[in-house]
Amino acid sequence: MKYRNLVLVGLMGTGKSSVGQALAEKLKWRFVDTDAAIEAGEGTSISSIFAERGEPAFRAIESKTIESAMRGVDQVVATGGGAVLAEQNRSWMKEGGLVVALTASADTIIERVSKDTNRPLVQGNVAERVHKIMAERKHAYDFADLMIDTTGLPVQAIVEQIEARL
Ligand code: S3P
Repeated sequence: MKYRNLVLVGLMGTGKSSVGQALAEKLKWRFVDTDAAIEAGEGTSISSIFAERGEPAFRAIESKTIESAMRGVDQVVATGGGAVLAEQNRSWMKEGGLVVALTASADTIIERVSKDTNRPLVQGNVAERVHKIMAERKHAYDFADLMIDTTGLPVQAIVEQIEARL
């Protein structure tokens, strides 16, 4: 195994958490979900952090969480969709392991996130918000070492594609 960690990046709804969990089980590595770590550390939900303290406060906590997660080894780390926006976070990820970007079609993302109330950036008109974020972040994940389109793929098939690159 030549990588210390495996880091999953990608827009919300691309399957980072479910793929990450399955991958960690298979590799017998620890699974770290940075959104879940933030919620545990702050004792509140992502949407409350956004609502009560604003997005910049969330991004600051997110950066600290990524920095500390990337000090570990033998972990699959699933990051929040916006974690790649800060240059510093991207360097910590690249230094810490293999960075895999998951992508999916707009329709897949819309379907996956529309039932979720804990995603503050896509409340209201979900389809419109998703299309806007997809356009804004068109190249945000290009820094990854590997890019996988998860549209229509079962979790196990995605896990196998990633394993083949380890
Ligand atoms: C965000 C994605 C979310 C979460 C927060 C902001 C984003 O994570 O970190 O709501 O900016 O894309 P998921 O990608 O796990 O939904």
